[in-house]
Amino acid sequence: MKMKPQTLAFDVYGTMINTTGVQRSIEKLIGEKAPLLVEMWRNKQLEYSFRRGLMNNYVDFSQCTREALDFSCETLQIHLTNTQKQGLMDEYRTLPAFADVRTGLEKLQNAEHRLFAFSNGSKKAVTELLVHAEVIQFFDGVVSVENVKMFKPSPLVYAHFNQTTGSTPANSWLISSNPFDVLGAINYGMHSAWVQRSSTSVFDPWGIVPTFKVSNLDELSVHFSTSK
Ligand code: LAC
Repeated sequence: MKMKPQTLAFDVYGTMINTTGVQRSIEKLIGEKAPLLVEMWRNKQLEYSFRRGLMNNYVDFSQCTREALDFSCETLQIHLTNTQKQGLMDEYRTLPAFADVRTGLEKLQNAEHRLFAFSNGSKKAVTELLVHAEVIQFFDGVVSVENVKMFKPSPLVYAHFNQTTGSTPANSWLISSNPFDVLGAINYGMHSAWVQRSSTSVFDPWGIVPTFKVSNLDELSVHFSTSK
């Protein structure tokens, strides 16, 4: 089906940027416990953002990331020095993009859609990340939740996206590998595509389904062909 050009909001961490990219450095530091730490770190980071949102106690997303790292190290009894932790945090600012991101975004840009990065991360951190991953040129802008001092999946942040980009729920889409983000966008009223990056990742069984599902960003262009 052909459509008019749409406004696309791309989630950043986990969707375009591979957050397991730090795993190799962690492996060098702590060996076989690395996958455990990576997983707990990411889950706690998100949990902290959800809790901060519920408590109306916004902090920069990087603070959620750092506090989640401290918590995870203590829980798993992994002893890292402050310098080692800071090294991991620095690496978080220069994580790589998944292999399909560049080609996927290029096709969507050629189809004349407007592309935005839309993240819990600060505008500065996300811009730096996308510059480093060499994909910044595909975007019309970077929208951060920092202006509303609230995190995904609050409806406030999706409304902020529409407001900032001059789009409406009817002509905008959230593209995310994070089911909580997809559910948040659909709950707000946007369309949303779920990027199921691993065949074992499960979509929350809430009776709300993504508008459609793909396994990487390269597959998106099939769903977004435009009639100009
Ligand atoms: C983000 C997190 C949720 O980039 O992945 O917003």
